[in-house]
Amino acid sequence: MKILMTGAGGQIGSDLITALVAQGHSIVATDLKPRPSTPEVAWRGLDVVDGAAVDRIIAEEAPEVVYHLAAILSATGEKNPALAYAVNQTGTWNVLEACRTRGVRQLMFCSSIAVYGPGLPDPTPDDVGLRPTTMYGVTKAAGEMLCEYYRAKRGLDCRGVRFPGLISASLPGGGSTDYALFMYVDGVRVGSYQAFARPDTRVPLMYMPDGVRGLLELAAAPADKLTRAIYNIAGFSPRADEIAASVGRAVPGVTITYQPDPLRQGILDSWPRALDDTCARADWGWAPRYTLDQMTVDLVPKIRELLSGGAKLTH
Ligand code: SER
Repeated sequence: MKILMTGAGGQIGSDLITALVAQGHSIVATDLKPRPSTPEVAWRGLDVVDGAAVDRIIAEEAPEVVYHLAAILSATGEKNPALAYAVNQTGTWNVLEACRTRGVRQLMFCSSIAVYGPGLPDPTPDDVGLRPTTMYGVTKAAGEMLCEYYRAKRGLDCRGVRFPGLISASLPGGGSTDYALFMYVDGVRVGSYQAFARPDTRVPLMYMPDGVRGLLELAAAPADKLTRAIYNIAGFSPRADEIAASVGRAVPGVTITYQPDPLRQGILDSWPRALDDTCARADWGWAPRYTLDQMTVDLVPKIRELLSGGAKLTH
């Protein structure tokens, strides 16, 4: 099947492309800065803010499914709310409209724990009032509602997950959950890391292989089993100092210190401590495979390999 991806050069894209290629799909990967194409993956430049360009590329490529990954994350979005609005809101509108008018069968949307705001039950279910405090969260909440709308009224099979903070052997860009990944990267690279969050910070996190599998399983789920368009999916919810301890077991001698950054700590404190993913489990059989320590065992060698291959992985 032909699949087009927006924001394919980001943190989710690299692992998602690998998984889709392994399933035998042909991929059109788009991003602001396209990479060199390979036999399996055609890279093309695309700014999702440019509606005419989005329409043109979807008309030309005629993909059956679109994975819409392009987004500005929470911390960057607070520094530049206009850019976050343009990419996350206008960009999502442009992609939805192009998919609808050009006959794309399915649109997969990536939402986030950032749609929630302060004062949440623990764990947090799908259906509580959404009161996001960041532009990223506002635009993701609106994107979710647009997906529900297009699914119900415009004949486009939109589906998506609310991702926890995702951790993988590649660098995210400007998220508030990045402290978790940096503990691994800097732990391996330089033996120490000063986290921008308090040691008792606790938010939902997930290892990327589980995240990618969740997205693919939801995409493949029979439509008549789905009771909603957007689903919470949960991995694990350790405190920051529990992540540090897990890193320490795999990288002996690592030193993690804490210097909370008011902007990102404020965002983290407004998010769920843990997600309730009952609906995803019931409707399409979702279950995570990795615990924190299982992720650590898998991830640390991958980071070592990347760094030994000359990857910069700095932030
Ligand atoms: N990881 C994201 C962020 O921190 C949450 O979706 O912005």
